[in-house]
Amino acid sequence: MSAVVMDGNALRDEIVAGLAATISAAGSPEICLATVLVGDDGPSRRYVNSKHKKAAEAGMVSRHAELPATATQAEVEAVVAELAADPNVHGILVQLPLPDGLDPEPVLDLVPAEKDVDGLTERSMGRLVRNRPGLVSCTPLGVMRLLQKYDVPTSGRRAVVIGRSTLVGLPLSLLLNRKGADATVTMAHSRTSDMASVVREADIVVGAAGQARMITADMVKPGAAVIDVGVSRTEAGIVGDVDFGPVAEVAGWITPMPGGTGPMTIACLLENTLTAARLQGAFPTH
Ligand code: GUN
Repeated sequence: MSAVVMDGNALRDEIVAGLAATISAAGSPEICLATVLVGDDGPSRRYVNSKHKKAAEAGMVSRHAELPATATQAEVEAVVAELAADPNVHGILVQLPLPDGLDPEPVLDLVPAEKDVDGLTERSMGRLVRNRPGLVSCTPLGVMRLLQKYDVPTSGRRAVVIGRSTLVGLPLSLLLNRKGADATVTMAHSRTSDMASVVREADIVVGAAGQARMITADMVKPGAAVIDVGVSRTEAGIVGDVDFGPVAEVAGWITPMPGGTGPMTIACLLENTLTAARLQGAFPTH
């Protein structure tokens, strides 16, 4: 293998330890992250559990609200509205996807912008588009942190983001394109023709399509940074968008799956929770 493996677990641990030190140095004021889980999807439950575990390690408290898959739209919205109004709750995360039949949009928009640790409300997304300060979706932030940590050059480089979701692909394209990162970004997706030649142009490739092992070694420019955000549930377990072994022979940097972008999502969620507490005056601003 020639690629440098980008260790998301190690960077997450570093970030969580830094948060714990910051919170303790400020006299450990109570900072609270609330999660909302609707239905009984196993992987979603595991993600939420790890968010609570890492929140505790960072010195934060957390709350969990759970509703059955049969919950009505009004019931879900009532739970989120209650957390939104509670001054002791600083960050709110509604785990997605919601079960079939529930519309996530009105639920997400009940989250006040200053508690929107997932960066998914219209206000937060609008701030990102307009390049104004605000909370940004955690997975794209985590990808940017990994690129910075491993000194992957972005300025003037070509980046291809495969997948255009509001959770990952769209915000990440904007972050890579922003002043400071300055990549030239192509947003590719399921209708992109000749995906292989589009990917081959890229110095930075991000797989966020949820298509198991769709990025193969022949598609990757030698020395490129290859970041895997894809999650596909297969009989062999959870599989990413990148065909890791062969791609690692060609790439300059690569994220493992698991242990790459997943832990970084949690680290950035907790950083966002501290930022949210600051925005609400519940934590000193530096
Ligand atoms: N489901 C998978 N990833 C995420 C995430 O980052 N945030 C939320 N809310 N749900 C998710």
